[in-house]
Amino acid sequence: MTDKAHAELLEEVLSRYEQSPNPRLREITEAAIRHLHAFAEEVNLQRDEWFAGIQFLTAVGQMCDDRRQEFILLSDTLGVSTLVEMLTHDGTEGSTENTVLGPFYVAESPRRARGETMLVDPDEGDRVVIRGRITDTEGRPIAGATLDCWQNATAGFYAVQQPDVQSAENLRGIYETGADGTYEIRTVRPVPYPVPYDGPAGDLLKVHGRGWMRPGHTHMWVRADGYKDLITHVFDEQSDYLHADAVFGVRESLIRLFEPDDNGELATTFDIILDPR
Ligand code: BEZ
Ligand code: FE
Repeated sequence: MTDKAHAELLEEVLSRYEQSPNPRLREITEAAIRHLHAFAEEVNLQRDEWFAGIQFLTAVGQMCDDRRQEFILLSDTLGVSTLVEMLTHDGTEGSTENTVLGPFYVAESPRRARGETMLVDPDEGDRVVIRGRITDTEGRPIAGATLDCWQNATAGFYAVQQPDVQSAENLRGIYETGADGTYEIRTVRPVPYPVPYDGPAGDLLKVHGRGWMRPGHTHMWVRADGYKDLITHVFDEQSDYLHADAVFGVRESLIRLFEPDDNGELATTFDIILDPR
């Protein structure tokens, strides 16, 4: 088949979408078709290879259930989730950066008082404090903002991954800012942990000799009336894997150092700037 025949085939396929009633869906579908054709052409894709790819995607789908979303994990490990986060964040210069949500968020965490620990179960890790102020882009404090937080235990797992081992409310909590916009969270120092690598997304990492670890981080979903939701992490500056995150979620602006504060507690400051809605 000549280049001309490839081009004619693509043109004919695209022409079948001309009557599509939804302009945005048409734009996305046409671009996906163009890029898929270009990809197949670039690597001179052969029938057995395409079939292997289809079998791989079938296995990804078969791995999915209520608790496991292998397609999102595949998107995460290919860097597509982070790219989409970057494209979605049309924030004002200076507002806090977002990063991937990940699969371990559970809604309706317990409300926690200022300074309360979200560690419920025994854990040998270091105790840490994360404190800061939430403001708008003009530096005005935002009172009554909520920080919905979650992280893994020192054993490397989130409570939702170990329902028979950890309490359901371990290392989860919703904190609120005071009138001056400040908040204070007590928790255990987050440690690196593996993304779930026992499925086809993990097989793809292994076959390419890639790692599956994430650096230590605490997740936050920040909500305030009149402002855009912010889904982000705070990363530990002294963690391993900061430059080898399996899901490419690290942003330099989100890395913080834990140091002893005036009370001798290991603490860090993470100020947050929200974008108006
Ligand atoms: C997480 O940080 O919880 C996470 C993000 C992407 C894939 C797996 C885990
Ligand atoms: Fe995480």
